[in-house]
Amino acid sequence: MAAPAAVRDRAPVRDAASASSAGPWSLRHLHLELRVSFAAAGAGRLRGRARLELRCERGAGGAELRLDAHPALAVSRAALLPPPGGPGDAAGQALPVESRPFASYGSALHIALPQAPRAGQLLTLLIDYEAGEGPGVCWLSPEQTAGKQKPYMYTQGQAVLNRSFFPCFDTPSVKFTYSATVKVPEGFTAVMSATSWEKQKDNTFVFKMSQPIPSYLIALVVGDIVSADVGPRSRVWAEPCLIEAAKKEYDGVIEEFLVVGEKLFGPYVWGRYDILFMPPSFPFGGMENPCLTFVTPCLLAGDRSLVDVIIHEISHSWFGNLVTNATWGEFWLNEGFTMYAQRRISTEVYGLPYTCLEAATGRALLRQHMDATGEDHPLNKLRVVIEPGVNPDDTYNETPYEKGYCFVSYLAHLVGDQSKFDAFLQAYVNRFKFQSITADDTLEFFLEYFPELKEKGVDSIPGFEFDRWLNTPGWPPYLPDLSPGQQLMRPAEELAELWAADSLNMEAIEAVDIMGWRTYQLVYFLDQVLQKSPLPEGNVKRLSKMYPKISKAQNAELRLRWCQIVLKNNLEAEYSKVKDFLHSQGKQKYTLPLYRAMWGGSEATRALAMETFSATAPQLHVNVQNYVKKILGLGGAEA
Ligand code: BES
Ligand code: ZN
Repeated sequence: MAAPAAVRDRAPVRDAASASSAGPWSLRHLHLELRVSFAAAGAGRLRGRARLELRCERGAGGAELRLDAHPALAVSRAALLPPPGGPGDAAGQALPVESRPFASYGSALHIALPQAPRAGQLLTLLIDYEAGEGPGVCWLSPEQTAGKQKPYMYTQGQAVLNRSFFPCFDTPSVKFTYSATVKVPEGFTAVMSATSWEKQKDNTFVFKMSQPIPSYLIALVVGDIVSADVGPRSRVWAEPCLIEAAKKEYDGVIEEFLVVGEKLFGPYVWGRYDILFMPPSFPFGGMENPCLTFVTPCLLAGDRSLVDVIIHEISHSWFGNLVTNATWGEFWLNEGFTMYAQRRISTEVYGLPYTCLEAATGRALLRQHMDATGEDHPLNKLRVVIEPGVNPDDTYNETPYEKGYCFVSYLAHLVGDQSKFDAFLQAYVNRFKFQSITADDTLEFFLEYFPELKEKGVDSIPGFEFDRWLNTPGWPPYLPDLSPGQQLMRPAEELAELWAADSLNMEAIEAVDIMGWRTYQLVYFLDQVLQKSPLPEGNVKRLSKMYPKISKAQNAELRLRWCQIVLKNNLEAEYSKVKDFLHSQGKQKYTLPLYRAMWGGSEATRALAMETFSATAPQLHVNVQNYVKKILGLGGAEA
């Protein structure tokens, strides 16, 4: 398939989180030449040359180009290459380049051009640099890997971290194709989020991404990793000691999700769908890097129970990676639509009751988040105003996911017919594929697609105005009906009631057999128990003894809830489980709630927090480290 042009056919969008002068330019292609080497103590070196093939779309006025970069990115030279085939020095004409402060999370690279470019002019820039200790490039020592033998490096771009990996227009409003050559030391393998992967001589890996993507989706891993096939277009990647478990967990299941996704949302355009199991400190459950999703090793639960994360990342293949939020203030377009798509696929594969149960655990997370921040918090709007200087990553929370899911469900409810709404989603993807858009584009398209709804004025029904959904904080005005999940939820609710009683009715409790419950039923049960906690004295201790399936669980979603219950009930005898869990992995969504709970608790839990953090801090992603510091009053970034 020919790469479609990634030119926005509507007015350019201003992204306050980018220092770049992307507006008048299109980036036709980015090529990276990278050399990665490891130093003894875990850190390493990444030397790079970026070649940007630019076209001036509109005369910009000045003779300057600004790129996003980072103080950790040391630029040694910028040069303008002569037009292909024309006269001129092949090394290019050196250009004056200067790095200036922009925000806490990046800097502006000012490059002086020989003259102001004309509309239609093509420019090829070369930038030589070295990426130092920036937040986008993570270096792990052998001890921080699963195999403990060799060091490892990975990059994480979303939201604004890739500007410390390579200089670019680091804004989701700009899409471009990329290619890369990566030279790595003997005994290491490189993989990237790219359409093709090829190993050449000298341990050099060559990549090509043939579809236009935003900068945040470029990702690289260099480590001791191997792969195994799990489907006709899918393989898993992991360290050798995890590859068997990885293959077992997902062998033969991925293809069905892709097929259902294609049936619902249109062609899967990315070629392969591979999954890379990351080291335990990876800060996310999953990251939808195109062609190659990165996931936490916590997903290796042994029973496929956490597969919803994979379905979520697959869903980004249409929502996020194909149709992309133009700015991070519109993040709900990526995540809200993806939650909806995830639950559509889940409904087709696992049925409505199970999917409603999973959605109910999502709703519980939104409830917890809004209770903690207050419903009126400005981050509890779908469209977030990201002021200059505010790091978009600091605005991360449940609202774009679960309130976004409610809004998309509300749109489906207005349509009233699932197959018509599915057809709309497919048309929406087709209309905006390879583009970056805002909610206005989405909603305008919705009303055009359903003229009878537009006629009825569905965008301004009192209490449910589209404008209110987008711009007013608070609990969603419409909640999708999750009652088809009642058959799974009710037993869990009833059991939680029993455990919350002052005097325990052991006969009734023993009559409930939780051994056959699915993981999400247990999760739902534990969320109910947590909500009712602290329970009357002694109850949690008995619960722990009665259900080793829960209190000794290896499943990360169960461990998180159990640790939260232990802390809320001051069950000192099991504080070590909190510590062990935080030592075993570094996912942000597990780490921060536990530190918040410890810090909000007793003297003893505060001491536990300090002790655990001082032991685990070096293995946490630097962003997560900073958020924990903020929680513990140690002067980190905004959380
Ligand atoms: N794209 C996100 C992860 C992300 C968001 C990284 C913002 C950096 C900044 C990914 O798709 C995601 O949402 N992951 C979830 C999965 C869950 C909702 C099933 C996670 O990591 O928990
Ligand atoms: Zn997501």
